[in-house]
Amino acid sequence: MNSWNEGYFTDSTYTFGYYRELSPNFIRWCLTLKGFVAPEVDGGCHCELGIGQGVSANIHAATSAGKFFGTDFNPAHAANAQELADASGSNAKFFEDSFEEFAKRDDLPQFDTITFHGIWSWVSDENRRHMLDFVRKHLKSGGAVYCSYNCLPGWAPVAPFRELLKLHDTFHAGGNADERVKAAMSFVDEFIAAKPAYLEIAPAFAERFEQIKKHNPHYIAHEYLNLDWDLMYFTDVVDMFRDAKLDFAATALPVEALERLGVSEEAWAFLRKVGDPLFREQMRDYFVNRQFRKDLFVRGLRRLSPFELQRKILETRYVLLRPAEDVTLKIATGTVEVKLTEEIYRPLLEFLQEDNFRPKTFVEYLQRHPDTKPPALVEAANLLVSGNSVMPCQSEATVKRVKKTCERFNAYVCERSKVNESIKFLASPVTGMGISANRFQQIFLSTYKAGERSADALVKAVWDMMSRQGQRIVVNGEKVDDVDKNLTQLKSAAETFLSKELPIFKALQL
Ligand SMILES: C[S@@+](CC[C@H](N)C(=O)[O-])C[C@H]1O[C@@H](n2cnc3c(N)ncnc32)[C@H](O)[C@@H]1O
Repeated sequence: MNSWNEGYFTDSTYTFGYYRELSPNFIRWCLTLKGFVAPEVDGGCHCELGIGQGVSANIHAATSAGKFFGTDFNPAHAANAQELADASGSNAKFFEDSFEEFAKRDDLPQFDTITFHGIWSWVSDENRRHMLDFVRKHLKSGGAVYCSYNCLPGWAPVAPFRELLKLHDTFHAGGNADERVKAAMSFVDEFIAAKPAYLEIAPAFAERFEQIKKHNPHYIAHEYLNLDWDLMYFTDVVDMFRDAKLDFAATALPVEALERLGVSEEAWAFLRKVGDPLFREQMRDYFVNRQFRKDLFVRGLRRLSPFELQRKILETRYVLLRPAEDVTLKIATGTVEVKLTEEIYRPLLEFLQEDNFRPKTFVEYLQRHPDTKPPALVEAANLLVSGNSVMPCQSEATVKRVKKTCERFNAYVCERSKVNESIKFLASPVTGMGISANRFQQIFLSTYKAGERSADALVKAVWDMMSRQGQRIVVNGEKVDDVDKNLTQLKSAAETFLSKELPIFKALQL
């Protein structure tokens, strides 16, 4: 039993996930899109509380021209994060402080952004107070906070699920962390099979459980086995931030800046009559049955004029993340699927693909297509970024400043993935964000950078490594033992890498 963990689950370490919502560049862009003045990101100071393994924190430290700080009271997390920082040379500083200790420090600068992802609902009231104290003391005027949390009403019918897992763990705790998660999950399985009356009024319970089963056991443990798990309404969280002088500005889901989308016509007819934007935002959670929120708060909200908003969004450079023909012109949001108009989006995607995916501004597009309406392009930028097909880029000056740290971070991750495939993201100096790259793509990339150009040479690099470690590829969850089948699959992956993925990796300067 640990004494430093304050009820937080520490019997296994957290997963190695990456979240673009924590990126200073992405935060800047979401706030701009919603029509607010965004904090400084070129050369600013940024901080993440509860960094976990530090993958997001380190990618943002490597890609930001400013200074980066973070803390996590789990020493294994802080150590992994610092190892990544040392490898990239980003000079990020990671501490092993609890939120309480961190809030008391007086050797930290004032921050432009402070982020916490996957923390707020999983810690005590007291810890939320420490986090807000930290924000009160360390956020600059004009600075932004990103906070994600589990919310009501979406969790209401299924919240008792968490209670079952926790109760099982309290009464039957035994074995290592994975065994405890497995035992608690089988208990819930048996519970559902026994048809309790509760499920008649909460049929979503069993469905949700099926989804949760697919998660990594370490994720499940950190999500559901903590002492604390508090569900809040959006408006309650807004009140808490208001006490620290922050106002709600936007969500980190850009499509939500277009309020009409994502809900049915009847829902919109209702919502548009709710005049107060905070009340409307809360009511929207009922209409989309939201369970998780990704909110951005600002200390000192200032509005951009509609013209400034438009200019800033159109003058931003954008990079395409997949071949134009592979972009699906549909975006799932709220309860509705949004269809993108072929005649507007196809030419735009072709334009972004030109010159080997070189990042481009929409001002350049307007010069070539003067009949296009600028507001339609602002909306297109929003929907393409929301669909994860396009990303907003950093300034060219910033890209130059952070290229070296990104190169070092990526080289380290690619090397590490030869023996440990935990980090599946690389840092793009162009976007200031992480880009998903699996182990094979990482080894193909490092082999290509070492001067090999043929698919056969890339396959050889991966296969030599796999053979040495007695590994085989896995297709649909099944290990493939046959060597020829392994080589055929790898050859196909290497060819796709060279023809489709490499041009994009180059544009992203991975
Ligand atoms: C669910 S994880 C999220 C990690 C990371 N933000 C991410 O999304 O990958 C929560 C993290 O907060 C840390 N944490 C929880 N309570 C803390 C406290 N009181 N002080 C410092 N860190 C804490 C945990 O160790 C854990 O790494």
